[in-house]
Amino acid sequence: MSTYETITLEQKDGVATLTLNRPDKLNALNELLLIEVRGAVLTLAQEHKVRVLILTGAGKAFAAGADIGAMSEMPPATAKAFADAGHAVGDALESGPFPSIAAVNGFALGGGCELALACDFIHASEKAKFGQPEVKLGVIPGFGGTQRLARRVGLGRARELCYTGDTIGAEEALRIGLVNAVHAPDDLLPRVRDVAARIASKGPLAVAQCKRVTGRGADLPLERASELEAQAFALLFGTSDQREGMKAFLEKREPSFKGQ
Ligand code: COA
Repeated sequence: MSTYETITLEQKDGVATLTLNRPDKLNALNELLLIEVRGAVLTLAQEHKVRVLILTGAGKAFAAGADIGAMSEMPPATAKAFADAGHAVGDALESGPFPSIAAVNGFALGGGCELALACDFIHASEKAKFGQPEVKLGVIPGFGGTQRLARRVGLGRARELCYTGDTIGAEEALRIGLVNAVHAPDDLLPRVRDVAARIASKGPLAVAQCKRVTGRGADLPLERASELEAQAFALLFGTSDQREGMKAFLEKREPSFKGQ
């Protein structure tokens, strides 16, 4: 079992919960935290035990952004390496075989919003606040915000958020499609765990292909994306999960998926 300085990781019934854990700094993303999140995600992906990952934050923030103290004196080359480290976390989340859900409990600003956007979808507490305030610091989002925010909420809304640096609350985030659902603060994790459990009970290879095809297909012309879907559909007919899922339906019982 790995020990971490800036995160905690729990696993139960196929669901892992990764908690960003620098509450005194509102879980600001420094280099170590980025390395630990990426390392944890890659390790979980290799172990093949986890079917869903939940990302959340300790204390009153999900994450209040990249660590401004660490960034303030960075020369351009170091800033590029820091942005690359942030993108590597997003890549690890997106390329992993299991879906990740951001349970945004409070501030998700700058890199915090970008980390949530790298998850498959977001549920928020009524107390959550979202924004890309980098222009207030004389920079731009560097961990994927200019790209993933536009893909999630549309170019016009993403540009307005990035140009103004405005912070929006959970209801506005729901209205523009940045988050899928808003819950009372105490209900956030239980409700996200319910969704995670519903996903974890399904065929894991099928869920992984849904993730891969919806993600890759979004950036492809429809014809190529449809071909990607058809190939993945066919691939699953070579698995024992497909046989078990359809047999269980015909036998009127619950399926027992093995991920094979
Ligand atoms: N980087 C480094 N430290 C941060 C941080 C960040 N992005 N966000 C918050 N912190 C630190 C504060 O410096 C403070 O540390 P201190 O107690 O050692 O002084 C601690 O976290 C608590 O933050 P504080 O500002 O006192 O909390 P608040 O409730 O008054 O305000 C925010 C909350 C989120 C509005 C405010 O912290 C903020 O604006 N943070 C920066 C947001 C941002 O610009 N993010 C994008 C970075 S690219």
